Amino acid sequence: MSPEKWRNHLVLLLFCMISSASGAFFGLNIGTDMSNLPPAEDVVAILKSYQITHVRLFDADRHMLNALANTGIQVMVGVTNQEVLGIGQTPSLAAAWVNKNVAAYIPGINITAIAVGSEVLSTIPHAAPILVPAMNNIHRALVASNLNFQVKVSSPQSMDIIPKSFPPSTATFNSSWNSTMYQFLQFLKNTKSFYMLNAYPYYGYINGNGIFPIDYALFRPIPTSKQIVDSNTLLHYNSMFDAMVDAAYYSMEALNFSEIPIVVTETGWPSLGGANERDATVQNAETYNGNLFRRVLNDSGTPSQPSTPISTYIYELFDEDKRPGPISEKNWGMFFPNGTMVYSLPMSTSDLTGDSSGSGLFCVAKPDADSSALKSGLDWACGQGSANCSALQAGQPCFQPNNIQSHSSYAYNDYYHRMQSAGGTCDFGGTATTTSVDPSHGSCIFMGSSRSNSSSPFMPPAAPGPFIPGKSGLKLQFSGITYMVLTVLLAIIQL
Ligand SMILES: *[C@@H]1O[C@H](CO)[C@@H](O)[C@H](O)[C@H]1NC(C)=O
Ligand SMILES: *[C@@H]1O[C@H](CO)[C@@H](O)[C@H](O)[C@H]1NC(C)=O
Ligand SMILES: *[C@@H]1O[C@H](CO)[C@@H](O)[C@H](O)[C@H]1NC(C)=O
Ligand SMILES: *[C@@H]1O[C@H](CO)[C@@H](O)[C@H](O)[C@H]1NC(C)=O
Ligand SMILES: *[C@@H]1O[C@H](CO)[C@@H](O)[C@H](O)[C@H]1NC(C)=O
Ligand SMILES: *[C@@H]1O[C@H](CO)[C@@H](O)[C@H](O)[C@H]1NC(C)=O
Ligand SMILES: *[C@@H]1O[C@H](CO)[C@@H](O)[C@H](O)[C@H]1NC(C)=O
Ligand SMILES: *[C@@H]1O[C@H](CO)[C@@H](O)[C@H](O)[C@H]1NC(C)=O
Repeated sequence: MSPEKWRNHLVLLLFCMISSASGAFFGLNIGTDMSNLPPAEDVVAILKSYQITHVRLFDADRHMLNALANTGIQVMVGVTNQEVLGIGQTPSLAAAWVNKNVAAYIPGINITAIAVGSEVLSTIPHAAPILVPAMNNIHRALVASNLNFQVKVSSPQSMDIIPKSFPPSTATFNSSWNSTMYQFLQFLKNTKSFYMLNAYPYYGYINGNGIFPIDYALFRPIPTSKQIVDSNTLLHYNSMFDAMVDAAYYSMEALNFSEIPIVVTETGWPSLGGANERDATVQNAETYNGNLFRRVLNDSGTPSQPSTPISTYIYELFDEDKRPGPISEKNWGMFFPNGTMVYSLPMSTSDLTGDSSGSGLFCVAKPDADSSALKSGLDWACGQGSANCSALQAGQPCFQPNNIQSHSSYAYNDYYHRMQSAGGTCDFGGTATTTSVDPSHGSCIFMGSSRSNSSSPFMPPAAPGPFIPGKSGLKLQFSGITYMVLTVLLAIIQL
């Protein structure tokens, strides 16, 4: 691996919720149709190490839910399309589903929403008459468990049900779905839920046959001469993402529903495609998701709904090699199963400091810190700084994810908490910053965590040590020696 790539992978991405009154959040979809899915505990360790605060599961997998317990991560669970028919026809099945997959886990897991099916109208249209009854049955089961205020019910819709989405102001739902959509929106309004939208500028761009410039799909600046303007409203659209979200707002408005907020449940860009999918590249995926990230955390709304921020779940955590379809379909993942990123997302560190109140502060490596500077900081903390770094050894609770960003964070924080009262600072040559988000994950408890006990700060090392991807049989865990050799090599290459 080239040092360039190695360094890129180390850039830590913070999916931190920017603290503002109406702040939009960032989440990740976790699809599991893959041959080398890491154990649930390892998946959650990756989520924690990148401080991901919201995830969506496509089902209600019990291993994932158990691993997400007591992490503080907010979880959206899914009724699968296979389950929708039964649940729509039989209220007792809905009650059983809610008891087994939601009620049983609360309050240990913060389940905040249930997605009933996925793109039901466009993928299994024969089930359309059953969709709203299924949502109703699930909602009634939540009411019976007194969970209806905490857990919202909705159903992700594809842009395919809006046949002509540009200009946004003239968009309407496919009129075959008038009565379904009317009931659907009435349900969302009555239960104060939200519209779940799957919005893919990638498909909007490639199916647009050159009508739209790729810059428009990738949130890049468009020359003034090529501004994209809605001729009815004269509103300017800087991105296809915004235009898609507005098309959904205007479609709801055409049915006289105006107060239902949109949450984007899926968006993203594939990093690899076949010979006829030349826009599916790492470069474009990095550009799209990086700009999306800035766009969402900016907290602004769309041109038509400027004060409604757009919370968004990126599709998706890992590549899903077992999904059918073209090569691009299998390559939407942002992370490798070993926890490094497929591409880096550059972010400004000013986004990271958040609202630190002084107590409950953790000292962690800055996401954009240079890896050799981090290595020096790590060595200093574990050596002269007298941090207790034994939890970072192979087989110990904080060894995974095995990268310098994560290891430095652990060591910096340990030093900071031991030495703060004696004047120790969170600096490490400018590579460190404080955060109020607890970086603990799995059995790796950071000092100062409310999960730590003074008597036994660490739980026994959890068994799942190395990540061993099923098919390739490659053992990706570094031994201590390889790790040292690599970092020394890296330091030399960088000289
Ligand atoms: C669960 O998430 C909600 C936000 O949707 C938050 O207000 C609440 O404090 C969270 N609860 C726990 C136990 O983390
Ligand atoms: C609307 O939906 C119906 C039913 O799925 C489909 O047959 C029709 O082609 C759609 N119309 C448009 C304009 O997409
Ligand atoms: C569906 O609703 C739209 C907007 O209200 C209306 O113009 C259209 O005629 C309706 N179509 C059908 C088939 O009811
Ligand atoms: C929406 O409301 C307007 C004004 O009240 C009414 O004229 C129109 O028929 C309504 N449209 C639908 C689809 O309900
Ligand atoms: C946030 O987005 C709005 C609308 O897209 C834009 O006008 C504004 O400059 C952005 N602000 C920042 C800080 O990026
Ligand atoms: C993680 O996995 C990717 C893809 O298999 C590989 O390229 C990379 O070298 C691995 N990184 C580490 C630190 O093991
Ligand atoms: C260092 O941490 C380990 C657990 O990771 C603990 O067993 C050990 O007692 C600690 N050593 C000191 C000197 O605090
Ligand atoms: C902390 O201590 C409590 C009570 O002694 C115990 O129930 C809990 O499991 C401990 N937590 C950890 C993380 O060790």
